[in-house]
Amino acid sequence: MDEYTSHWNKVYANANPENTGWYQETAEPSLELIASCNLDKNATILNVGTGASTMINDLLQLGYSDVLVNDISKEALSTLKRSILSNNLSNIQFIEDDITEPLAMLNIPKVDLWHDRAVLHFFLEKEQQDAYFNLLKSKVKVGGFVIIAEFHKSGVLKCSGLELCRYDAESIQEKLGDDFKLVKDFQYTYINPSGGERPYIYTLFQRKK
Ligand SMILES: C[S@@+](CC[C@H](N)C(=O)[O-])C[C@H]1O[C@@H](n2cnc3c(N)ncnc32)[C@H](O)[C@@H]1O
Repeated sequence: MDEYTSHWNKVYANANPENTGWYQETAEPSLELIASCNLDKNATILNVGTGASTMINDLLQLGYSDVLVNDISKEALSTLKRSILSNNLSNIQFIEDDITEPLAMLNIPKVDLWHDRAVLHFFLEKEQQDAYFNLLKSKVKVGGFVIIAEFHKSGVLKCSGLELCRYDAESIQEKLGDDFKLVKDFQYTYINPSGGERPYIYTLFQRKK
């Protein structure tokens, strides 16, 4: 296992998810953006780099019945799995894979929504970013939605001890290209469990063609 993957496995093996620097009791900004997409309850929703996000239980409780979750860390996926109510487990698929060197992710069906909070910003190399956006473009349906929420350009330079590439709506649009229309964007200051301010940029795009 490479050093990067073992970093994330150690994070989830050693920390209570509630103490991680990205824990949200409720993923409110994401849930609001998802609600604004007016998706059918059987729409295919993909959360890349899902970690132990509480958003997944909330989506299942809202009745979404086709939820795919991905992470590079099997510890993250196990932690998340333990938190899912057993009667909801049939509505969720767990996919362990590196989205910058995808293998299993190449076989998933096309999705109605791609959601990423705090994952893309860890990819510093152009090759990794290109691989991420190539995967996204091969998996999001025409008419489908993309939510990307990362540390804003005005924010701190590191998360989880790792250097970041920070974003704003323009730089995300540039990576997505003209086939994706920006529907909404806003800055949101997340306060982490240690009280630190972490300014994020939230973006919602829709695929035109
Ligand atoms: C800062 S955490 C955010 C977790 C979750 N998205 C949230 O908002 O609570 C970053 C997550 O991305 C995962 N991750 C990092 N690099 C990845 C990669 N190349 N492929 C898939 N997942 C990755 C990590 O294991 C970790 O769970």
